[in-house]
This record gives sequence, C-alpha cells and structure tokens, in this order.
Amino acid sequence: MRILSGIQPSGQLHIGNYFGMMRPMIENQDAGELFAFIVNLHALTSVHDRGRLARDTLNAAADFIALGLDPDRCVFWVQSDVPEVCELSWILSTMTPFGLLERCHSYKDKVAKGISPSHGLFAYPVLMAADILIFQADVVPVGKDQKQHLEVARDIAAKFNHIYGETFKLPEPRISGDLAVIPGIDGQKMSKSYGNTIPIFTTREELKKRVMAIKTDSTPVEEPKDPDNCNLFQIYRLFAPEDRLRETLGLYRNGGAMYGKIKLELVDLIWDYFAAAREKREQLLADPGGLKAILARGAEAARAAAAPTMELVRDRVGLRY
Ligand code: ADP
Ligand code: TRP
Repeated sequence: MRILSGIQPSGQLHIGNYFGMMRPMIENQDAGELFAFIVNLHALTSVHDRGRLARDTLNAAADFIALGLDPDRCVFWVQSDVPEVCELSWILSTMTPFGLLERCHSYKDKVAKGISPSHGLFAYPVLMAADILIFQADVVPVGKDQKQHLEVARDIAAKFNHIYGETFKLPEPRISGDLAVIPGIDGQKMSKSYGNTIPIFTTREELKKRVMAIKTDSTPVEEPKDPDNCNLFQIYRLFAPEDRLRETLGLYRNGGAMYGKIKLELVDLIWDYFAAAREKREQLLADPGGLKAILARGAEAARAAAAPTMELVRDRVGLRY
C-alpha cells in the first residue's frame, strides 16, 4: 500500500499540521510505502518572497524529520525536484471542468477573505491531483479541510481513466479521526494563512504569548463549562496526560476551571511534548548540506517512482507521435 501526503512550506508549521497530517504520516511509516514531500510549488500561490520560500522549505523538511519521519524508511523530497508533476498537472487541467474548481471551499474561502485569486490558486487542486496520481497513491492522510481536494483528485482520475482507459488508481483520503480540525487561538480552523496558529517550534516566550491569547468565554470560574465548545480544552486535550485530562474535565463539568491556570499548564505541556524534536531540529539545521543530501536522495527515488506513470500518460494522450 502506498501512503502519500504533502505539506506547504508557507510559514511556521503548527500543531494543526502536526496532529492533522504529520503525526498520522509518521505513525504510518511501517504500514506501507510512505511518500512524504514539501509542496513548495503550492506554497508559491501565497508566498512571493524568494528568501522566505527557500528558508521555509528547508525548515519544513527539518521539522518533519525532527518530529519522527525517518528518510531511510520513506521517500521524502521537495515537490519542485520532480518537475514531471507540472507536466501532468497541465495534462490533467485540460480535462478538469472549470465548475469543479469553482466549487472548492478552500478557494472560495480565500477569495471571501479578500485574497485576489491568481490562476495558480484556482488551479491548485489540479496540481495536487497530479502530485497524488503520478505516484499511484492508495491512501492520502490529510486534515479534514483537504477532503474536497481529494475528491477532486478522484474525479479527475476517473475522468482520465474513462477517456483514455485505466491509468490512475483512485486515491482514498484518510482523515485523522476525532482530531479532524484543530481550532486556532481564535476558534476558527488553525491555519498559517489566518495568523491564529500555535507553532510547533518557537521560543518559549512566543509559545506563551500564543497560548495566553487563546480565546475563551467569560463564564465565571465557579460555573460549569462545556469542554466540547471550548477552544482551550480542545487544544489542551491533545497534550494533557490521562490523569490531568480527567481532573481538568471534572473542573469543566462541575465548576472551578480557571482558564488562566489551564493556559499556563498548557504552555508547559506543549513545550515538553516537543522537547526532543526541538533538539533534533537544531542538529539538522546546523548541517544544511546533510539535509539537502537527504532531499536529493528522496527526489531521485520519487522521480524514478513517477517515471512509469508519466510514460504511460504521454503515450495514452498522444504525446508520443
Ligand atoms: P495551513 O492551513 O496552515 O496552510 P496546510 O494547508 O499547509 O496548512 O495543511 C497541511 C496539512 O495539515 C494538511 O493535511 C491539512 O489538512 C493539515 N491541517 C492544517 N491545518 C489543520 C488543522 N487546523 N487541523 C487539522 N489538520 C490541519
Ligand atoms: N493541499 C495540501 C495542503 O494544503 C498540500 C498538498 C499538496 C498535498 N499536494 C498534496 C497533500 C498531495 C496531500 C497529497 O495541505
């Protein structure tokens, strides 16, 4: 079974990325053939700063390895190092209905937020379909927000197969259980583009600032509160050990939960949770040459894996004349 997923290097990775996509990928290392990549071509739809994109690409690669991805047990590369995906993306775009892309929530949400859409932003799901289909992935672990993009990839694959004959496997999304959408500090989905994240790797001071800014209601301390509708609790439960979780849950239900105190505890919990990864990340970033060598090896393996599908596609559509 081939398991594949990618992450954008469009800013500091956050705990939503970790629980929604990175941890499920890391946990899948022995469940099948794992393909993981940093999608820098997708990040170009929102980052037009040369230095920042280059730096965040390397940082995201270091983050993923530091958090437990083992490049010796998977194929790990940077998207633009397999340029064939752009070729496939074009071919797929010629059979992607305009209306299918117009219906994408992620696109509509960004436009609604006032982002002036480029052609690249509109075509984003087609490139993502190419990413998945070129490797004949079976399963794609992603957060809930990417489910529709997976459906688009399946629709495009089915259409291609219908026109040209069986060519692509239809990928299955794997949405990460009850943690499907991690809320940000303002209660909306945590996202790099909404400025509401809790970064995985940051200074303790910044971490504290973010956690203390988690929006909570004004229910008095002694009154019971609903943990299911509390952002703070939804984040706290990801990090708290069993006994602490039970005790805090009791305070929510029976009264006595003090948001300020829970936030301070959460700062410590998050800081400790990522302590070992933080150290590993420092080591990786101290040797950029080593990190680039890992990615170059990954790109070579990824290109080799993509080659047979590309040959078949070129032949099927009539580009071999
Ligand atoms: P962002 O919205 O921060 O730009 P990406 O779109 O790069 O994040 O998402 C990378 C991966 O992390 C995707 O699989 C996505 O579903 C997952 N992810 C992002 N934000 C969250 C969240 N708040 N909760 C769960 N998963 C998330
Ligand atoms: N669109 C995905 C996101 O923002 C990233 C992505 C690009 C991806 N290509 C992919 C995810 C292929 C899974 C498979 O999260």
